[in-house]
Amino acid sequence: MGRAAAHLFASYGATVLITDIDEAGLAETGHQVAEKGGAIYSYPANLLDEGSIAELVATIRKNHGTIHHLLNYAAAYEPRHGTTACTSQDWDRIVGVTLKGTWLATKHAMPLMQTNEPIGQKGWRGSVVTVASAVAYRGGGGFVAYTAAKAGILGLTRAMAVDGAPYAVRVNCISPGLTRTPATPLVEGSEDEKRIVDAIHLLPYMCEPEDQAQAALWLSSDAARTLTGTILNVDGGWTAK
Ligand SMILES: NC(=O)c1ccc[n+]([C@@H]2O[C@H](COP(=O)([O-])OP(=O)(O)OC[C@H]3O[C@@H](n4cnc5c(N)ncnc54)[C@H](O)[C@@H]3O)[C@@H](O)[C@H]2O)c1
Repeated sequence: MGRAAAHLFASYGATVLITDIDEAGLAETGHQVAEKGGAIYSYPANLLDEGSIAELVATIRKNHGTIHHLLNYAAAYEPRHGTTACTSQDWDRIVGVTLKGTWLATKHAMPLMQTNEPIGQKGWRGSVVTVASAVAYRGGGGFVAYTAAKAGILGLTRAMAVDGAPYAVRVNCISPGLTRTPATPLVEGSEDEKRIVDAIHLLPYMCEPEDQAQAALWLSSDAARTLTGTILNVDGGWTAK
């Protein structure tokens, strides 16, 4: 999903700064976007380590001056353990990357956004997008830590929207449904895909990473200038079902 957003934001002329613990994945995204003429810079970091995030934001400040839009896609979802099988170590890592990592990245980016020139007529200065999941509403049987982290993202988004307002920073959330990424290895057009999509979505198809990227682009734009603390379900109707 992060890769699709990098492509889309770059196609609109943004300077895109990407980070991940997976250096090979970062290099691949950087290569793909640069090949199409996009401005992209890769900075590996570990969301489990606040020092790594602080260092990343300091490097961005030095090299690029500021951050206007922060998209928090990173998550850990393995192993998919239920309540009795989940270990404390699983919990700490999954909740640490998915929930605490979103807070830490925003914590360090928000003060930088406050220094931005006002954007558009209303003069907001920065935008943060968090990423939840339909399992935040529906209970994600078999992965207790991930489900708790994603439900936490809903509350975290609202809390950070309140705290971001004095900084003129808007904070909104996308809550994806089943989306075609390496995290959901379903063969396109397969019987398996059809069965799973029919069971959970209202619409008879999966979301594509580009659908999620379009939602992030809109939330990050001046067209969404009056939105903060909003949860946008981009989920094929999963939440409504
Ligand atoms: N794919 C779906 O169907 C789906 C559905 C609902 C929600 N989501 C959410 O959408 C977001 C993107 O999901 P995706 O499907 O693209 O998954 P993905 O696994 O491709 O992306 C997650 C990224 O997080 C990175 N990451 C993991 N630990 C990290 C750490 N310690 N520090 C820095 N980066 C780390 C991984 O390397 C990976 O690149 C996630 O928040 C996911 O929970 C996905």
